[in-house]
Amino acid sequence: MSHKTNKSGYAAIAIAAVLLPLAAIAETAFQHTITGEKLDLSKAPDEGRDTAAVKHFLETGINQYNGDEKALPKGEQIYLAACSGCHGQKAEGKMGPGLNDSYWTYPKNKTDKGLFETIYGGAQGMMGPQVLPLDDTLLLMAWIRHLYQGPPEEAEWLTPEQRGAAPTDGAG
Ligand code: HEC
Repeated sequence: MSHKTNKSGYAAIAIAAVLLPLAAIAETAFQHTITGEKLDLSKAPDEGRDTAAVKHFLETGINQYNGDEKALPKGEQIYLAACSGCHGQKAEGKMGPGLNDSYWTYPKNKTDKGLFETIYGGAQGMMGPQVLPLDDTLLLMAWIRHLYQGPPEEAEWLTPEQRGAAPTDGAG
């Protein structure tokens, strides 16, 4: 191995050292719920990849369809077609667990990033990967959140305002 590294070689290494971590931050890494392996989002259909909501979600892990009345009917339709057979009409649980209460087998499903990972990558047994158009996945996730019956304070996916949380200055 040669130790002859010229100036531009060092510059390239320095640039790579700066850019590689940035690339990792720019694209949120999604991980399989059971194995922790990185999920390959390129398996999702081309359709519905470049909506504003998908772009925002891939950058931030935040689902802008949450609480969006206009998104709910479509989310319901997709949920009924893809999920209700196992999870119940109202996500109350059937052969698959309920998704409308505050108990989660995988606690990360309290975050939208975690919920997306469980849906896209699957979990165990009958919960295989549910690879739908990415926008459809966000829509049905908003519907699942809409069906939630548990205590608002455990709804981690909501912003404090959406949770109706009292200010934490002791006034409540
Ligand atoms: C063929 C039946 C089946 C279908 C269809 C199915 N699921 Fe599941 N799902 C399951 C089973 C069984 C489990 C439990 C797996 C486990 O514990 O690892 C599960 C687990 C889950 C969990 C984890 C719940 C927790 O408590 O942490 C989520 C979230 C979930 N499913 C969402 C969905 C969504 C959304 C869809 C539709 C896109 C869907 N599933 C379609 C059977 C199914």
